[in-house]
Amino acid sequence: MIPFLDLHRQYLTIKQDIKAAIEDVIEQTAFSGGPFVERFENHFARFCDTSYAVGLNSGTSALHLAMEALGIGKGDEVILPANTFVATAWGVSYVGATPVFADCDEYYNIDTQQLRKLITSKTKAIIGVHLYGQPCDIDALLAICREHDIYFVEDAAQAHGATYKGTRVGSFGEMACFSFYPGKNLGAYGEGGGVTTNNESYRNKMFSLRSHGSQVRYYHDEIGYNMRMDGIQAAVLDIKLQHLAQWNNKRNQIAEKYLQQINNPLVKLPLIRKDVVSAFHLFVVTVPDRGRFMQYMTENGVATAQHYPVPCHLQKAYSFLQYKKGDFPKSEYLAEHCVSLPMFAELTDNEVHKIINLVNNFK
Ligand SMILES: Cc1ncc(COP(=O)(O)O)c(C=O)c1O
Repeated sequence: MIPFLDLHRQYLTIKQDIKAAIEDVIEQTAFSGGPFVERFENHFARFCDTSYAVGLNSGTSALHLAMEALGIGKGDEVILPANTFVATAWGVSYVGATPVFADCDEYYNIDTQQLRKLITSKTKAIIGVHLYGQPCDIDALLAICREHDIYFVEDAAQAHGATYKGTRVGSFGEMACFSFYPGKNLGAYGEGGGVTTNNESYRNKMFSLRSHGSQVRYYHDEIGYNMRMDGIQAAVLDIKLQHLAQWNNKRNQIAEKYLQQINNPLVKLPLIRKDVVSAFHLFVVTVPDRGRFMQYMTENGVATAQHYPVPCHLQKAYSFLQYKKGDFPKSEYLAEHCVSLPMFAELTDNEVHKIINLVNNFK
């Protein structure tokens, strides 16, 4: 079986370094926060070309703290795409604000044409998600945000290292939120997340909030959380960060083969913007008869997945917002027909070749 994702193959290529790094953390008993987290934060900020990075325990916490650091709360609205992993909306809900969903464009990212009509006097921010690793239309989003004096926040959970007009994502908005969930392009060996920013006061606020609202131990200035990154995750991420650009290149080479060589009228390939380099976290096609296609792939030894089968506005958790089927046709079409093909740097040429042949032979 060709797996959808095989993290073990990657581990084998960096095993010695990972083991040494983990041992180092244990020897120094630097388990929560501490020097390994600080070092990774410095390296990740440099990678994203931002002044600061804040290491956290998940991407969901990153979105939560970004909203809180911006002072967003009850009565406020935040616009975000319906086509995203639901955690993009969780941060908005956690601070008591209301998520306002928008449909996607032909690149499967937030449709910037629709946004102006969604903006009200309550709108405080737009979250642009770089879904599947492809940067969204950042210039258009920044222009709308400036015009209406609202914040722009990037959800870059799937896009570590992707570029927009030559610049890596992570520095375009007030803040950018990253997930280091194991399966991500830069994945920890457990849970992890982070925020990048150029704004020192946001960084300080998040430093406090992630650690019980405290800057001096046992003195608590505000109600905070325990959202610190742990030392082992930081040490693992620091090793893996050194390989990220190369792994992303490999993903791009595989994507290029899929894009060039898959040729089947029943399988629609993703569109990639001319001004970006995607991180290709996922390679998502659409197929009218998805069930039959996925079964065919499985029966022929290739695992596939769906990202995501239900758009945010139709999730039961958000039924109280009273969206209905038909509100966002493009997101809904995608949810019903999307199929993700295997995509990870260690896929072999033979495997890629087999996947392409199989897809081309689907009738
Ligand atoms: C687009 C997006 N946003 C947010 C998250 C949340 O990240 P985490 O799972 O690390 O909490 C994820 C990943 O799962 C994601 O894909």
